[in-house]
Amino acid sequence: MDSQTLDHVGPVLRLSTATSTNDVAAELARQGAADGTVVVADRQTAGRGRRGRVWLAPPRSSLLCSLIVRPSLKPAQAARLTMLASVATQRAIRAMGLPAVIKWPNDVLINERKVAGILTETDILGDQLSFAVIGIGVNVNIPPADLPAVATGATSLLAEGGRRFSRWRLLRLLLAAFAARYQAMAADDGAALFQEWRQNLSTLGQAVTIRTADVEMAGVAEDVEPDGTLLLRQKGDALARVTVGDVS
Ligand code: BTN
Repeated sequence: MDSQTLDHVGPVLRLSTATSTNDVAAELARQGAADGTVVVADRQTAGRGRRGRVWLAPPRSSLLCSLIVRPSLKPAQAARLTMLASVATQRAIRAMGLPAVIKWPNDVLINERKVAGILTETDILGDQLSFAVIGIGVNVNIPPADLPAVATGATSLLAEGGRRFSRWRLLRLLLAAFAARYQAMAADDGAALFQEWRQNLSTLGQAVTIRTADVEMAGVAEDVEPDGTLLLRQKGDALARVTVGDVS
């Protein structure tokens, strides 16, 4: 990455190596870092994904960043932040010319393969979020031959676009898309963001299987609710409300 300044969100702390940018950002947030602070690293030694998984990325191949936010939200509204990050990531990738969509709850896919993931971690004080760290990993310049070692079903911008992409440009686009929606979210209680997320979900209308830690459910993904819940129409017409899980 080069060292241009970012004008939409900031400050941006750029590291060559981090354990996990989410861990660095959480520590900074505990020390009082401002709303909008961004941590970005060329490489992680302990990158984490959702549900205890590792997040692997060859050094300098990917966008690995975490945003510190201090919104006035209740813990039950935290899914909005993940919606916001998935929409911003999808818009940024689209602005670079590739047809990204969102898979419930917050993976970003191109041609049905995962190109980006989001890990939101919250710190709660009383009945409010004290801060949240939104970690975003985008596979940018990982060559197709290296993708199987990264994750099953993974793709990269390089694999889909047939050329290398600037991680710095992607970060700029992503932060601009994030900042615009972050401000709007406070004004309309997240209504426009929810609609944008819903409209860009590739999952709706699809026959899916949802796996949580201990349950597997099949059905048709019928709709989503503003708190991020997926409505799954099961065999026999029962409607299940699903709040966590992996979709396939
Ligand atoms: C997932 O899809 O499971 C979420 C992956 C999130 C990965 C990013 S990379 C930057 C930030 N730091 C981490 O350790 N994880 C997130």
